[in-house]
Amino acid sequence: MVTESDSALAVSNPATADIIGYAPVSSDAEIKADIERSHTAQKHWAALPAKTRSGLLQRWFELLLENQEDLSRLMTLEQGKPLHEAQGEVLYGASFIEWFAEEAKRTYGETIPAHSGDKRFVTIKQPIGVACAITPWNFPIAMITRKAAPALAAGCSFIVKPSELTPLSAFAVVELAYQAGIPRDVIKVVLGNTAPQVGDIFTSHPLIRKLSFTGSTRVGSLLMQQSAHDIKRTSMELGGNAPFIVFEDADIDAAVKGALASKFRNAGQTCVCANRFYIHSNVYDTFVTKLDAEVQKLKVGNGLENDVNIGPVISESAKTGIQSKIDRAIEQGAIPVTPIQTLPGLFMQPVVLRNVSHDMDIVQQEIFGPVASIMRFDSDEELIHMANDTIYGLAAYFYSQNIHRVWKIAEALEYGMVGINEGIISTEVAPFGGIKQSGIGREGAKQGIDEYLDVKYLCFGGN
Ligand code: SIN
Repeated sequence: MVTESDSALAVSNPATADIIGYAPVSSDAEIKADIERSHTAQKHWAALPAKTRSGLLQRWFELLLENQEDLSRLMTLEQGKPLHEAQGEVLYGASFIEWFAEEAKRTYGETIPAHSGDKRFVTIKQPIGVACAITPWNFPIAMITRKAAPALAAGCSFIVKPSELTPLSAFAVVELAYQAGIPRDVIKVVLGNTAPQVGDIFTSHPLIRKLSFTGSTRVGSLLMQQSAHDIKRTSMELGGNAPFIVFEDADIDAAVKGALASKFRNAGQTCVCANRFYIHSNVYDTFVTKLDAEVQKLKVGNGLENDVNIGPVISESAKTGIQSKIDRAIEQGAIPVTPIQTLPGLFMQPVVLRNVSHDMDIVQQEIFGPVASIMRFDSDEELIHMANDTIYGLAAYFYSQNIHRVWKIAEALEYGMVGINEGIISTEVAPFGGIKQSGIGREGAKQGIDEYLDVKYLCFGGN
């Protein structure tokens, strides 16, 4: 039965506005006590053989798979994404646990040829200590496991504050970690009365040595400033403004397919979603017509219903923000290819806007909604200038079948990740992360575990 108390946060379904449950909220004193217990537990956790930690993570991975259906339904209920996307996210989230269960056994150091005969040099890698994370609502499970799994694999303990909008998935996935045998003080979920309050505790507490954040550039910058006080390690996965580029030599049908996947996944609410489209003038009309035809087929609705492609956006303020970006673009001259229907509640009709220009606000800002803004270009030089003309550098995509152009453009784009003839780039085996104001650090891949390890150099003298 759903009940409310003073120390519980109501969680609602964005598709229906119904309250679906309550999540426990901790006081400042409780969060600080959690950090202290986490600090003590970390010493024991780090002392376990890597193979033991690996086995516990492997069991956690298996439990996510065994509970895929329940976790997916819960995620759709609290986040709104279509059930098939939630099922995909559970597998994506689980994949990080499996990957880092394996990487736990491979935190190798080095031997270094010494500069004099009586010395020997060695490096070892050691866990940073207590790591904490602040995670967003758009991927309520995967953004937690992408941080928790490398932290635990490295021998850190881990405390996460999930988004207040999607805490139930966080509690569920961490409950499975306990069922796998990972000690309760080694991994924890905490919610405070407000997000800044928990951010303040995480960044000011001396026992926390590492903060990993996924969210906006504005908040990331603030957390980095706060973490600078006692020089905490930080990893930041921040905003994006991904260009999606189609050259005249591209396979247009493949580009349309990639554009649909990249732009409309999760109702356009991902940091790596295509945010602005640059299409060569010679293929512009064909691309726009084909993309709009596919977009008009997308079914908007409650993610639990069959065949829904686009669920609600996350909140009233998100809907108002996206709508005002569309309205402003239309005032500035953009034209919806198909007239826009206004939908009730938090639902939004996906939109393709043509006649967009590079200086419009909708191109300069992250949209985080189901809107494709389409511009034209004529030369590679002009294109590279516009694609890089942003403070962000997370993901970029382009379509071309000319191998010389592929290399030239791939090298020229100032982004941490580039999809070439591909609209979906995320995977646990490749490094995810941005440059410029899109962040610092990499998640997933062999690099991901290093974010939770310190390198120690041992100098053996007198040999
Ligand atoms: C994000 O939007 O921050 C993550 C997207 C992904 O992992 O694909």
